[in-house]
Amino acid sequence: CGIVGYVGKQKAASILIEGLKRLEYRGYDSAGLAVLQGSRIDVAKKAGRVDVLAKAAGRHRFTGTTGIGHTRWATHGGVTDANAHPHLSSDGKFALIHNGVIENYAGMKRFLVGKGYAFASETDTEALVNLIAYHYEKEPETDGKSRFLESVRRALMHVEGTYGIAVLCTDCPGEIVAARKASPLVLGVGDQEYILASDVSALVSRTQNVVYLKDGELLHLTPANFSIITQDEEDVSPVVDRITWDIADAELGDYRHFMEKEIFEQPAALENAMRGRFAEDGSTALFGGLNLTPAELRQVDRLVFLGCGTAWHACLVAEHLIERFARVPVEVDYASEFRYRNTPLDRDTLFFVMSQSGETIDTLGALREAKRKGFKVLAINNTVGSSIARESDGGIYQHVGPEIGVASTKAFTSQLLLGAIIALYIARMRDMSFNDGVEYVKAVKSAPALVRRVLEQAPRIREIAKRYAHYKDMLFLGRLSLFPIALEGALKLKEISYIHAEGYPAAEMKHGPIALVSPECPAVFFAPRGEIFNKLVSSIQEIKARHGKTIVITTEGCELPPGVADEIIYLPDCHEAVLPVVATIPVQLLSYYIAVERGCDVDKPRNLAKSVTVE
Ligand code: G6P
Repeated sequence: CGIVGYVGKQKAASILIEGLKRLEYRGYDSAGLAVLQGSRIDVAKKAGRVDVLAKAAGRHRFTGTTGIGHTRWATHGGVTDANAHPHLSSDGKFALIHNGVIENYAGMKRFLVGKGYAFASETDTEALVNLIAYHYEKEPETDGKSRFLESVRRALMHVEGTYGIAVLCTDCPGEIVAARKASPLVLGVGDQEYILASDVSALVSRTQNVVYLKDGELLHLTPANFSIITQDEEDVSPVVDRITWDIADAELGDYRHFMEKEIFEQPAALENAMRGRFAEDGSTALFGGLNLTPAELRQVDRLVFLGCGTAWHACLVAEHLIERFARVPVEVDYASEFRYRNTPLDRDTLFFVMSQSGETIDTLGALREAKRKGFKVLAINNTVGSSIARESDGGIYQHVGPEIGVASTKAFTSQLLLGAIIALYIARMRDMSFNDGVEYVKAVKSAPALVRRVLEQAPRIREIAKRYAHYKDMLFLGRLSLFPIALEGALKLKEISYIHAEGYPAAEMKHGPIALVSPECPAVFFAPRGEIFNKLVSSIQEIKARHGKTIVITTEGCELPPGVADEIIYLPDCHEAVLPVVATIPVQLLSYYIAVERGCDVDKPRNLAKSVTVE
């Protein structure tokens, strides 16, 4: 979900709508805003996209200069106007927007209903706004402290669960109270104005000076000032950071979709991800932020990689490359499984979490679980100042700029590349030779040029996509480091085109999925040059023998027996370390063009959200 708030001199409504449009990628079931108008709070909220809200808001006369807005990804309660945020307290004094889940809301609601509070929606959020109203009425004396801030603080003491909230109060024109626990909030400090948001993309058009709120902190905005306190009423001195990317990063430019833009941006994104990461001798890597000495790293005898969704696929590739080149055992787990699995762990284990947003609650939960048990956790993360960046012991930033398309592309390939560089770094501390290191570094550095060459084939891949857009099922098959890319290809396709797709290790096909093979179920096959090329070709032949259509992704110069491929896409010859990056590009393009062909809303696929901050 997305949060935005405004206090300043301009009319709040249009600034809130602009912010919500930029946040829409975080959830787009419904949207709403509330503006303080004199001593009243006016609300507009609608199921559907921000555009629907913008139309509805256009019919209101919103003139106030203080307001809050929200775009929702439903958890409690269906997608309806009533369940959209903001929610008002039943006395109309408070409006609240909320990201996260209030786990004990049922008990809270029972208590409040008993006290005469009325409820209009099925959401957990409404219980909280009424609890704030309850504390405001019950405890009017606050020792000179803001009664508004105090009522929010006291209400939050009873909350179990997670939240990023922003609140308006009719008694306090020009004020917003906000707070967070495991759900991000950042304050933009502009010229005579403040913009609050759940991520910087909503405020970068107005300011680049930001203050990241930490868990357990409450922010009080007034027209003239802002202050931060903790739940225990300690004053916090705010640190103002400067964001490094600008508004063009968050805009479409000449592209039709953010996903398209981000696919084509990958050569530059990869350059940015690896800049400054190689040692002067050209044989190994450099990482400034790991906070581990080489001696400490040499002691590690097992690595665990954790992530969700696309990031989990990147973890699988890292596993392959690290085991292959650095010869250190690696285990990969879904962050959501790891945190409850209580797996036995050896002391000399080092953790890596991967997360583009740095806010995925499952990944954050897994990080905390590993730290609680005394392990060091490093993060591979694209969002400076995110919760995961802050709570990890060290890590590596991806530096690929904001990724707006819900389906991850440039964030994924940069994670692959960083995984490859980590493999090199550890390998060169153990038994990789100088010469092999030099060759490896050269290979990694060539990734942007190799990716560019695959991107040049986009028009051809688009033609292929047109011929395959009508299928209902598709298989993605690959082996070794391209098995995770098969998983990723299948995930991309199902996410944005709603075609049922499955990724499998190619040799596993004969143990089950082959039952699906028919003229109605084409297979995308990775068959690059390498030791098992002939075995891959045999697997393709098993499909052809059953009249399945095949799109084969192979290496330039590789000869396929006649008749095995209905379509061929060629990859430039490359080192194993960068093969996964290079092989990802055709499946990104294929899914993108298939989704466009099917008329799908590529950047905002149904039911998904870019960053999932609930369990
Ligand atoms: C969500 C997104 C996925 C993403 C996953 C992990 O489910 O829809 O595309 O891969 O979260 O996101 P992260 O920000 O942790 O990489």
